[in-house]
Amino acid sequence: MPADLRARLGLVELPNPVLAAAGCAGAGRELAGFVDVARVGAVISRSIMTEPRTGNPAPRLAETPSGLLNSVGLQGPGIDGFLQRDLPWLLSRGARVVVSIAGQTLGEYGALASRLSDAAGVSAVEINLSCPNAEDAGRMFALDPEAAAKAVAAVRGSLRSGIPVFAKLSPDVTDVVAVAAACVAAGADGLSLINVLLGMAIDPGTMRPALAAAYGGLSGPAIRPVAVRCVWQVREAFPDVPIIGTGGVRSGRDALELLLAGASMVGVGTAIVHDPSACSRVLKELEDELVVIGADRVADVIGQAHGTRDRVSHGLARRF
Ligand SMILES: Cc1cc2nc3c(=O)[nH]c(=O)nc-3n(C[C@H](O)[C@H](O)[C@H](O)COP(=O)(O)O)c2cc1C
Repeated sequence: MPADLRARLGLVELPNPVLAAAGCAGAGRELAGFVDVARVGAVISRSIMTEPRTGNPAPRLAETPSGLLNSVGLQGPGIDGFLQRDLPWLLSRGARVVVSIAGQTLGEYGALASRLSDAAGVSAVEINLSCPNAEDAGRMFALDPEAAAKAVAAVRGSLRSGIPVFAKLSPDVTDVVAVAAACVAAGADGLSLINVLLGMAIDPGTMRPALAAAYGGLSGPAIRPVAVRCVWQVREAFPDVPIIGTGGVRSGRDALELLLAGASMVGVGTAIVHDPSACSRVLKELEDELVVIGADRVADVIGQAHGTRDRVSHGLARRF
C-alpha cells in the first residue's frame, strides 16, 4: 500500500512533502507542460523584492563537476508584478504557494510582508536571508544572528497572523544553529535550509572567472552533505521546529536522506534546472523508497537518523 505522504505547512495541509525550491521554477509557469503544479507539495516562488530587477550580467551560470554555480542575482518582477501575474496564475492551477521574499533593508522586508498580508492564497512566506544588508555595508543578513533575527521580526511584525514564516538560512556560517536559534526566538515558525554556498570557477582557457560576477552560489549534488549536516544540527537543537530541507536532491533516496536528518519537507532546486519534471520524479521515487523500508507514513521517517530510538517500532528496521 502506498505511504501517507501528507505534510503540514502551518494551517495548510500539503498532499506531499516535495517542494519546488525558490528560484528554480521561476514563477511556476516554467514547470507547466512538464508537471502539474497542483501535484507538487508546494511551489516556492523565486525571491520577490520590492521593485523589478534584471539581475546580474551574463554569464550567470557555470557547471562544475558536481554542482551548478549561479549568479542570477534575484531577477524578478517585483512585488507588484508578482501579485498581479504570477500568484494568480499559480493559484488558478491549484498550486500551494510559498512566497520567498528578499529585502535589502529591514523596511523592505516589512513592506513586502505587509503587501503579502493583503493577498489571498499565500500558504507561507520564506524569508531569503542571503541578501546584502544595505544598512550593514552589504553583509548578508544570514551571516549574523542579530541581523537575521531583526529581518524575521520585521516580517513577523507586518505579516497577517496565520501565515507561517520560514527563515531560509545560509550554510556559509560557522554556527548555523546560532542563526537558527535567533530566527526562532524572533518568531520564525519554521526554518528552510540550505541556500547556496559561495563558490567560484575560473576558465583556464580565458584565464578569467567563469561568471561575470566572479563568484556565485554553488548548488546541486556537491552541497547535499552540507545540507544534511545543517538539517541534522538544527533538528538536534530544535526537534519541534518544522524544516524545509533543500540541497542537492536529485532522487527519492536523496529526499529520504534529508527527511531522516530531520526535514519535514524537501525542496528540489537545481535538479529542476536540468529536468523540469524533477519534483514529480523525486516524489514517485520517495514513495517507492517508503514502501521498501516499510514506512506507512512519511511523518514516521522524519528525524529517524537521530539516536537509536524507536526504529523497530516504526517498522523501519529492515534497511537501517
Ligand atoms: C538558478 C538558481 C536560482 C535560485 N534563486 C533563488 C532565489 O530566488 N531565492 C532563494 O532563496 N534561493 C534561490 N536559489 C537557491 C535554491 O532555492 C536552493 O536553496 C539551493 O540551490 C540548494 O538546493 P539545490 O541544490 O537543490 O539547488 C536558487 C538556486 C539556483 C540554482
